[in-house]
Formats: sequence, structure tokens, C-alpha cells
Amino acid sequence: MTPLTADQSYLRHFWHPVATVNELEVADPAGNGPIGRTLLDEPLVIAKLNGKYVAMRDRCAHRYAKLSVGKVLENNRIQCPYHGWEYGASGRCELMPACPSDAIPKKAFTPAYACEERYGIIWVRLDSSWDCTNIPYCEAWENPEFKRQIIAEPYNWDSSAERRWENFTDFSHFAYVHPGTLYDPAYSEPAIVPVDRVDGELRFFMEPGRDMLDTLPDDSPLGSWNYRNSMPFSVNLSIRLYKNDKPFLLWTTSSPISQNSCRNFMIIAHTEDDLPDSQPLDFQKLVLAEDQPVIETQPGPIYLDEVSLPTDKISNQYRKWLRELSTAAAKGEEAFKAALFTDVTESK
Ligand code: FES
Ligand code: CO
Repeated sequence: MTPLTADQSYLRHFWHPVATVNELEVADPAGNGPIGRTLLDEPLVIAKLNGKYVAMRDRCAHRYAKLSVGKVLENNRIQCPYHGWEYGASGRCELMPACPSDAIPKKAFTPAYACEERYGIIWVRLDSSWDCTNIPYCEAWENPEFKRQIIAEPYNWDSSAERRWENFTDFSHFAYVHPGTLYDPAYSEPAIVPVDRVDGELRFFMEPGRDMLDTLPDDSPLGSWNYRNSMPFSVNLSIRLYKNDKPFLLWTTSSPISQNSCRNFMIIAHTEDDLPDSQPLDFQKLVLAEDQPVIETQPGPIYLDEVSLPTDKISNQYRKWLRELSTAAAKGEEAFKAALFTDVTESK
């Protein structure tokens, strides 16, 4: 079996979500953390120092204890839990309490990574040497029609981020995995739609059958589905609901913990004044509970040997682009930028 992308290091050039701001606030009422997260097999400590979020390798240079189990001090440093070394926002050790007046060794640091907050979510880019990627697009705060944006609690799956992305955008599974929730089993032949690459996003549009309105629950977001998906793991599904002609947004981004596990972030935006958050969240939980046991049976990596149909067009195009990105990154910055930002359009 040949994996789709033998070299996963291209993913280090992208921004990935690692935690919500709310998670930091739950861990520490001051909202400073620290908390530990793993991204692409790299353990990270996430904290807020001097009012800015930071992400560093979660390993003290002294005896390799995890900084995420330490504390954020009032002096805006992270203190290692073992012997109290204090690290500043750049990742350098600034105090070794056992020898406070000795010179601090050059190697007494932990690598710090690019870290930003957007959409109530903390994002990290492990390799910023090319500095050519953007935090994924999310429409939730852009569209003035939305009255409420819900930042869901992240959830982990034993699946790769690639598989999770494909699951979210797979038209042919709706009739089998979600009969009566998202789809009517009568519609088992999905449309084959034009797929565009624009600005580093995979874009497509689909209109599921309107008469499913008669059989699906009222919470089902049945409508015209417009996808603007920032590569590699983000989905911005902008829906115009059939039932009331109002917009509804399902945004999700899968974050690769490793090749076999992912952490998933979701934002729901809607136009209702007094819809309790629990209602759309519970409906999504129902849908996820239908997907998860199936998707977790797939192997983490995608294999070239898998048999594809014309109706798998979205995932076929997605796989093709991932492969191009991985190959291009091995060639260098210019090839990577060209692979990510050269537009290819089929739609009119
Ligand atoms: Fe961190 Fe010793 S292991 S201070
Ligand atoms: Co599904």
C-alpha cells in the first residue's frame, strides 16, 4: 500500500488550531494557561504572556520536564514545575533559581512558534520560514446577517485530519451514514459538481434535493451548500437554508495531532435571536456520533490504492492537491507557493 503523501512535513507550513481561548480560561481563570497540546507529533505548551498567546515546544531544556504542567507567573514567564526555570515569550530561559547569578547557557531555551488568536481559537504555525500561508477563512464574523457565533468545544477523533476533512465534504456518505438526520436515503446518487482552486481554497457548490424538507428534522441544515475550504483541513460551509432563505454557517477545521488522531474545531453561526446554543450543537453531536464509529475504522493515512468513483470528485481533487503540495514543499518555497496559490477554475 502506497500512502498518498509519504512526506508530511509540508503541513508544518500551515496554520493549525490548537485550543480555544475558552479552554485556556477553563484551565486558568486568568486565561493565561499553560495547557499542553500536540500538533503534528510535536508536544506544545500554550500560554498567554504579556497579553499575547505563545506556543513553545513543551520541554524544559534542563531535564525535559513538561512546561505545560508548570505555571504562568506574574512576571509573564512560564515556570517549569521541576526546578523552577523561568521562560520568557521568546522561549529563552531567563532565570535558573538554583544558580541565579550564573550566566544562562545558550542552549537553555525551548523553540517558540508563530502563534495567533482568531475566531476565539489559538492558531500555531510550526514552520514560518516561508511565511506564505494564512489562517483559514471563516465567514462567521464577516456576514452581518449572523446574530450568533457559537465556538464549540473541540473534540478528538482517532482519525487523520485528512480523513476527517473528506468525511465532512463527502456527498455519497450522507444517504448511508445520516439517513433521516442529514439526508433521505432515496438520494444516494450525489451530484458531480465543478471544483475550483481559488486563493488556496477548494471551492464548490451543491444543492441537495429540496423535497428532503418533507422528511428531515427541522434542525437539519438543508439548503444550498457553498463551500470555501482553506487548505489543508478547513471547511467553511455557507448554507442558504431552504426552510426560511436565511444563512447558516457550519465551519470546521481539523488539526492533525498525529497521522492517526485529530482535534476538531467547529463554529456555528446563525441568524436567530433566541435559539439556545444547545440546539444546533446537539444536532451536530448527533451527526458526529453517526460519523465517528465509521471514520475511526479507516486507517490514518490515505492510500493511493483506494478505488475512486467519479462521484468521489471532491475527495479526488482534494487528494490531488494535497499530493501536489507535499511534493512542491520538498522542492522549496517557490514551488510550494505556486502549488498553493495557482488558481484552477472549472466553474463559470
Ligand atoms: Fe525544568 Fe529542571 S526540568 S527546571
Ligand atoms: Co457525515
